[in-house]
Amino acid sequence: MTRIVVGIAVASAAVACAAAAYVVSRRIRSRKHWNRTLGILQEFQSESATSLFRLRQVVDAMTVEMHAGLASEGGSKLKMLLSYVDNLPTGDEEGLYYALDLGGTNFRVLRVQLGGREGRVLRQEYEEVPIPSQLMVGSNEDLFDYIALELSRFVESEGDGYHPKSGQERELGFTFSFPVKQTSVDSGYLIKWTKGFAISDGVGKDVVQSLHDAMKRQGLDMRVAALVNDTVGTLAGARYWNEDVMVAVILGTGTNACYVERAEAITKYQGESPKSGSMVINMEWGNFWSSHLPKTTYDEDLDGESLNPGEQGFEKMISGMYLGDIVRRVLLRMAQESFLFGGEVPTNLYKPFVLRTPDISTMHQDETADLREVARILKSVLGIVNTPLKVRKIVVELCDLVAERGARLASAGIVGILKKIGRDGSTTGGRLKGDQGKGRRTMVAMDGGLYEHYPKFRKYLQETVANLLGEEMAANVTVELSKDGSGIGAALLAASHSQYLNA
Ligand code: GLC
Repeated sequence: MTRIVVGIAVASAAVACAAAAYVVSRRIRSRKHWNRTLGILQEFQSESATSLFRLRQVVDAMTVEMHAGLASEGGSKLKMLLSYVDNLPTGDEEGLYYALDLGGTNFRVLRVQLGGREGRVLRQEYEEVPIPSQLMVGSNEDLFDYIALELSRFVESEGDGYHPKSGQERELGFTFSFPVKQTSVDSGYLIKWTKGFAISDGVGKDVVQSLHDAMKRQGLDMRVAALVNDTVGTLAGARYWNEDVMVAVILGTGTNACYVERAEAITKYQGESPKSGSMVINMEWGNFWSSHLPKTTYDEDLDGESLNPGEQGFEKMISGMYLGDIVRRVLLRMAQESFLFGGEVPTNLYKPFVLRTPDISTMHQDETADLREVARILKSVLGIVNTPLKVRKIVVELCDLVAERGARLASAGIVGILKKIGRDGSTTGGRLKGDQGKGRRTMVAMDGGLYEHYPKFRKYLQETVANLLGEEMAANVTVELSKDGSGIGAALLAASHSQYLNA
């Protein structure tokens, strides 16, 4: 009997030991996994770090590339495209103008009745229409037919209070937010599609001609008076209200900037002298590249698997289309190598672009003590349930790193432009005639969903611009949201380039 009791005691002690050993080994294993998670995070943090020193190198690289892109065609990855916009709206514009704004997942049609200096914008109306996803990967003709159809519907709904001058054709400003090599203010051909548009043709075609042809098929009679990039539209829209606007930046699905440049600095420009001695340059900064940019292996993979490998490198580190996917890629690695979400890798984590930038913005800005919003998005978007708080914290940390890097790089780009035009306090060159530089107020007009809807991104950007400029100069520079300026800006440019202007 005693022997049996002893036997049982020994056996249960052995089971207890084995169980304890199992728990200990699991703990050690999970501690090891957890350390691995932290290791992946730290590695990402150091590879993507944007010290002020590094950002200053980016500022300088941006300035150097701007010079090179202005000097000759193909002189830089920065295309520095001529907009042929040499007379920005002044406030005196009058009459009815339309605008069409294409370049993201939605497009907009807009009409505005302008009342001159006193009346300004008497009334305006717009409609926003989503672009069916199949049209983003279809043919050029189908895309333009769809747009022209929506435009002609909108024109038909023109009501009281909107009136073209008698005997005058309606005029339109066309915001087309892709790289276009312009041949005049109202013509230009597409260089390439960006931002996930993979239209089978269209590259090399005259954008205005494509629109005119489609309008003709719809029986719509209208003249395209100005073809502009969204940055140029934003600059014009903001300039209408404030003369200090010199730069416009889009931070949305894609990213880009334009600014007002002295005509003589544009060596590759061989047209007649611009009317005002200056011209707006569409930089297409999304394609900027410099060895100083903190590129990680995740960026390399994202680029390699994208629709446009080797292109839009700056855009892929900064803009709304990509930030969510960078976070997803790091989480996937954590799931694979350190079992962050348990033994199996959640299948949704393998899906490109499943985690969108609005999701990371929501998670990043989750103020609840138990990070409930993070848990909700992990569950609804990635199918990951029951995440411990410490895992949610890692996710927030990662969103922070990705957003911070993007915002700080965009800031360096902005300061690079300010430096080029002598508005950063560091140089005396590059200024427009009569411009005192130092002490002169400069406004940077911003637009795009990333900037508008992601407060932490916005905060990082504003702080970094101020840090890079230094207190004294920062006091002269304002970075301001100029919401939906690009549509109305195109209408204003149609007005300032109207065929009836001198009549
Ligand atoms: C992409 C386009 C560019 C546009 C920007 C913002 O970078 O190439 O033309 O301005 O997105 O929409």
